[in-house]
Amino acid sequence: LPWTACVLTLFPEMFPGVLGHSLVGRAMSEGRWSLDTIQIRDFAHDKHKTVDDTPCGGGAGLVMRPDVVADGLEEAVKRFPLAKKVFLTPRGKPLTQSKVRELAQGPGVILLCGRYEGIDQRVLDEHDDMEEISIGDYVLNGGESAATVLMEACVRLLPGVIGKEASHEDESFEAGLLEYPHYTRPRVWRGREVPETLLSGHHEKILTWRKNQARRITQERRPDLWAAYCEQTKGSA
Ligand code: ADE
Repeated sequence: LPWTACVLTLFPEMFPGVLGHSLVGRAMSEGRWSLDTIQIRDFAHDKHKTVDDTPCGGGAGLVMRPDVVADGLEEAVKRFPLAKKVFLTPRGKPLTQSKVRELAQGPGVILLCGRYEGIDQRVLDEHDDMEEISIGDYVLNGGESAATVLMEACVRLLPGVIGKEASHEDESFEAGLLEYPHYTRPRVWRGREVPETLLSGHHEKILTWRKNQARRITQERRPDLWAAYCEQTKGSA
């Protein structure tokens, strides 16, 4: 079976969206991964198809009802019993490339997308094997864009999605460093030259240049990554 993502959402029409295009879209038509959506509203029980209600204790906004969300989630688990359950929320653990690798190596994911102020905590307590994941320290109106980000990051790691000449080894984070800068022709553009080393044909020197650039950019932009890299590299150089 191919890697599968099952998205629980009030807006299934948002999918596949960007994931239907380019390499990831082609990989889907080639059967390398599949995308399923579940409309949470289908699990509402009243004639108005109510999915939310006012927060206990008062305050602004609405909260998604636990009974409706849990019924939808449990339908997803019936369809994909081995998939990892993930709730997208700014309260979650930050998504990292190593988490992406872990999720891409498994059989697939069930992605629960919230809207409104949140989901009744009891659903999350009931499903205590569900992981809460954030894509960054900013607040979106719902989990759908975050789910899209997570899926794209996973699918591009699946076998055959990206050619092996474009290996993942050089990419940002794979070595704990940000990526070195890239250049192509023309050799001079608006008076700006391609760094001479890259035109030298000297493979060893090129690798060293790229490594130094990656280190410089990481130091400048991401002191947090640089510190972790220095810690990891300690003694090995
Ligand atoms: N839902 C709303 N904001 C989010 C974020 N930053 N990450 C994941 N899910 C979200």
